[in-house]
Amino acid sequence: MAVILAIESSCDETAVAIIKDGVLLSNIVSTQIEVHRKYGGVMPEIASRLHAENISIVLKEAVETANIKLEDVDAFAVTRGPGLIGALHVGLQAAKTLAMLYKKPLIPVHHLAGHIYANEYVAKLEFPLLAVVVSGGNSELVLMEDHLKFKVIGKTRDDAIGECYDKVARVLGLPYPGGIPIDKLAKEGEHAYNLPIPLKGEHTYDLSYSGLKTNVINLVHNLEQKGEKVDVPNMCKSFQDVAVGLVVDRACKAVEEFEVKEVILAGGVSANSYLRMEMKREMDERGIKIIIPPMWCTTDNAAMIAKVAEHLYERKVFADLNLSADPNWSIEDYLEF
Ligand code: KG4
Repeated sequence: MAVILAIESSCDETAVAIIKDGVLLSNIVSTQIEVHRKYGGVMPEIASRLHAENISIVLKEAVETANIKLEDVDAFAVTRGPGLIGALHVGLQAAKTLAMLYKKPLIPVHHLAGHIYANEYVAKLEFPLLAVVVSGGNSELVLMEDHLKFKVIGKTRDDAIGECYDKVARVLGLPYPGGIPIDKLAKEGEHAYNLPIPLKGEHTYDLSYSGLKTNVINLVHNLEQKGEKVDVPNMCKSFQDVAVGLVVDRACKAVEEFEVKEVILAGGVSANSYLRMEMKREMDERGIKIIIPPMWCTTDNAAMIAKVAEHLYERKVFADLNLSADPNWSIEDYLEF
């Protein structure tokens, strides 16, 4: 084992964590949510500029909190993708500079592998497992036969579930990030609006959220045109039932077909209380173990990147200093960079 410094800057959090022999020494996250809230979503150019402003401050704080010197670090890990290209670049250039300066290996980490491995802070992973990866930019069902063996068995054909939550929230006049207020208001509402279930009747593990988003937007506009008031809690509940129901349905079918030992939730939308409750209920009924990440692991951070980096360090998965960011990097190609 070793001292690994990890950097994450794929979206709107600038984060640095330091891990030593499996123990987290520091985990600093600077979020830009307040800035992006004004626009109702992440503004990529602003995100990149803020990462550039914040990275050195976050880095300094992580090193001071860990009470180490940069000379003590054995490897520098960084999120290489997927994410926003300009945002990824900032973290990548910082990590490359450190690796060059201190003559230590550079470890490229896949962002979604990070979300999956965040669960290692809660429990040891048991294989085969199904990772339900649901975030603002991605929605995938990933089958893992062993450590670092990722097979995407289903993914969204269009929008990510988190993106859909954010757009629906915007049309309902709720603040960004939309998943949080929708989750809260859904608890006060009833399933009163009829929204079609995406990909109904199709034998697939894929997901789809663009049609659901359009259905909610059209329904809200139609009601407004008729001068009728939208019942926001009821709309939140009706939407959430369908959005989460789709993921739960796919996960239940997959655990049966692939005979997995456990299911893990990962990504920003894994903070959703209804998803957590429904997945637990379904897996308990089937006698399948479920790992639900603590809330601090659901949002972007570098501790999760450090966890993957430990496994990659053991296997000496290192990159050259000409490494480039890949906004569309597939988790199945995590060794190709
Ligand atoms: O993982 P994340 O930071 O995004 C990416 O890295 O892509 O997740 C952010 C997403 C946002 O779309 C946000 O609305 C959603 O996670 N989210 C939630 C909840 N909390 C955050 N969605 C549903 N329910 C929640 N409680």
